[in-house]
Amino acid sequence: MGRIEKALEEALKKKRAEQPLPVELLPGNGSSGDAADGPSAVAENPYLVTINDPHSVIAEEFRKLKTAVVGLTKQAGFLNTIMVTSALGGEGKSFTALNLAVSIAEAYDHSVLLVDADLRKPSLNEYLGIEMGQGIADCIVDNIDLGSVIIRTGINKLSLLPAGKGVKNPVELLSSSRMKELFFEMKHRYADRYVVIDSPPLLPFAETQSLCSCMDGIILVVRQEMTPIQSIKDSLALLQDKRLLGMVYNGVAPESLNSRYNYYYYNRYQKQVR
Ligand SMILES: Nc1ncnc2c1ncn2[C@@H]1O[C@H](COP(=O)(O)OP(=O)(O)OP(=O)(O)O)[C@@H](O)[C@H]1O
Ligand SMILES: [Mg+2]
Repeated sequence: MGRIEKALEEALKKKRAEQPLPVELLPGNGSSGDAADGPSAVAENPYLVTINDPHSVIAEEFRKLKTAVVGLTKQAGFLNTIMVTSALGGEGKSFTALNLAVSIAEAYDHSVLLVDADLRKPSLNEYLGIEMGQGIADCIVDNIDLGSVIIRTGINKLSLLPAGKGVKNPVELLSSSRMKELFFEMKHRYADRYVVIDSPPLLPFAETQSLCSCMDGIILVVRQEMTPIQSIKDSLALLQDKRLLGMVYNGVAPESLNSRYNYYYYNRYQKQVR
């Protein structure tokens, strides 16, 4: 190999190493109706902590969250549609929805359908290393069958309904009667599985508030040193007549953790984040 080729290869390696989310993109669509076939690799994303760092403190916290959620949703019948939201942007909705869905899929005899209903800023396909293809927006706009856009994630029993094509009018789409029909269909067509829904933030967007009415249960994510107390109060006020299952406190600071192992973990995790 010549010097120039070598230098180029080194530069390419360096570029790959610097990627914040080192995921390998997989084909997005073309799977069968109920996600029976399709991609079967698992993304090496460090935020997919329940898969890629299963012995970590944070993965353990997600398993505890899963136990609590399953307990709450099986009390009276089976409340299978659970939406994860938060007051504002960047508080960890997608991270929580993803790792909660993985924890449920891994531990129980349930398949889980993870839904990216954040049409403004979809991210679950990226977290999972799956190229964006058709998704929920296409089901609403073009009346495509739900089953034909659900794809396998490569994680046992976890399938993904991506957000789909970019849309200019997420408020209208997510507040539409077609959207309500779709969630009704998800609940009943996949009645034996949990449907975990990632959403846009609650306070700024009317569509999230509208989505809340279609859900069996809602989880509110609050992020340490990020979510203002007034925003938590405002969110709770908006959710007062909805079925709030509980709140997730995300991004706990190292000093709040008591064991050395925890401290080590969070230091390491923060390094990966940068
Ligand atoms: N506990 C955590 N520790 C470190 N990084 C985190 C943690 N939770 C989330 N993040 C990171 O913070 C960023 C925002 O997280 P995430 O995408 O889950 O938030 P979000 O609420 O879905 O944001 P948006 O409103 O933009 O959709 C991402 O880069 C995510 O990986
Ligand atoms: Mg998100």
